[in-house]
Amino acid sequence: MKLWSGRFERETDELADEFNSSLPFDKKLYRQDIEGSIAHCKMLGACGIIPDQDADRIAGALQGILEDIESGKLEIGGAEDIHTFVETELIKRIGDVGKKLHTARSRNDQVATDLRMYLKGSVSEICSLLQGLIERLLKIARENADTIMPGFTHLQKAQPITLAHHLAAYCEMFLRDIERFTDCKKRIDVMPLGSCALAATTHPIDRKMTAALLSFGQISNNSLDAVSDRDFAIEFLFCCCMVSMHLSRLCEEFVLWSTEEFSFINIDDAFATGSSIMPQKKNPDMAELIRGKTGRVYGNLLSLLTMMKALPLAYNKDMQEDKNAVFDSEETIKKCLKVMAAMLPAITFNRRRMRAAAKEGYTVATDVADYLVKKGMPFRKAHEVTGTLVLYCSKKGIALDKLTIDEFKSFSKLFEKDILDTIKLENAVKNRSVHGGPAKKEVKRQLSDISKRLNQVMKKIY
Ligand code: ARG
Repeated sequence: MKLWSGRFERETDELADEFNSSLPFDKKLYRQDIEGSIAHCKMLGACGIIPDQDADRIAGALQGILEDIESGKLEIGGAEDIHTFVETELIKRIGDVGKKLHTARSRNDQVATDLRMYLKGSVSEICSLLQGLIERLLKIARENADTIMPGFTHLQKAQPITLAHHLAAYCEMFLRDIERFTDCKKRIDVMPLGSCALAATTHPIDRKMTAALLSFGQISNNSLDAVSDRDFAIEFLFCCCMVSMHLSRLCEEFVLWSTEEFSFINIDDAFATGSSIMPQKKNPDMAELIRGKTGRVYGNLLSLLTMMKALPLAYNKDMQEDKNAVFDSEETIKKCLKVMAAMLPAITFNRRRMRAAAKEGYTVATDVADYLVKKGMPFRKAHEVTGTLVLYCSKKGIALDKLTIDEFKSFSKLFEKDILDTIKLENAVKNRSVHGGPAKKEVKRQLSDISKRLNQVMKKIY
């Protein structure tokens, strides 16, 4: 029987019933729903809205339902949604007393509360996974402060950097992701319960008490807004998108770096797959899959934004569609973060190849121009002179360090013997020691700064 059957004369059409049901996906919220209900009934008891003994019986039975679901004794099914399932089961177990639970409550404030509780947990989990990933990246970075590699722009070799510098850039991105989730959590951590259907209630409830029981930081300030608002879910999905995008960029680099053409890395067999026809193949499928899943994570954000865009206040059934988007993104990025963290130690970096690649492509040309500037030449002019120098070398098919000092001098009298020192890869890196640069000492500072900020932001999560 439906919880709302009183006003109806006929049964729901079977197809409509199935179409209407959210149980197949919102059963994921059973724990939050039951915990929310326990807090709600305790508050009803404390406020004298229902007798204390009734509140105790309801809370006890709800606890039993939770235990039975978790032990597998009670299977979730046969109801319109998780809220209906729990309430129906409660009434089945304790009869008429159970019918008092839904006093001063609606599924509209209930579902918003459940989802917020769920997302608070998700944010903590995702941030821990991000923390684990950053720690793995930091470890590899610390071991590679001297590993020179080319930095790229337009995917063309640009200037020499180090692997540590490169990976530290990803640490910054993932650290921002944690900060973004932390900020989003402030807006998730608001309790809608007590808003009821849309216009709150005539019962003398104590919303702050329920919020305290459920560890919510705040209670919502407007009942209409509270049941209509899915901003927090959209924000959460956006935070997931940013993580996905960052993971995808790293994956793209791993895919490129593992090609024969780059040969910067080798991904262990445990994280690669083969081809059903080409016996020689070893493909970076894990990295490609993480990159590929970014599409669905972006899609979920767009689907929720679009679903919400023209909804009149307050609750509309359209909003039931929020859960699939949220659960899918949440599960997807958790899996991707786990796979990425597990794959990182399975990657070996080909340091010799990376250094050799940094030597090709005139990556120290900027250092030559800077040299001339330090000798008094205006930068634009130095750029021009160095450009002609590079052209000369590339026509001869040689690197800059193969030029004689006389050849250098033929381009500018300002060149002296120390130019050869200036254009050594190690010096090109070492000389970039300003805040943010790739010099070893500076990157070490960056890494310890990341570590410090990571510890600070994680304290805010728990
Ligand atoms: N299953 C619904 C959802 O997920 C719960 C809220 C239903 N409220 C209503 N008035 N029909 O959104």
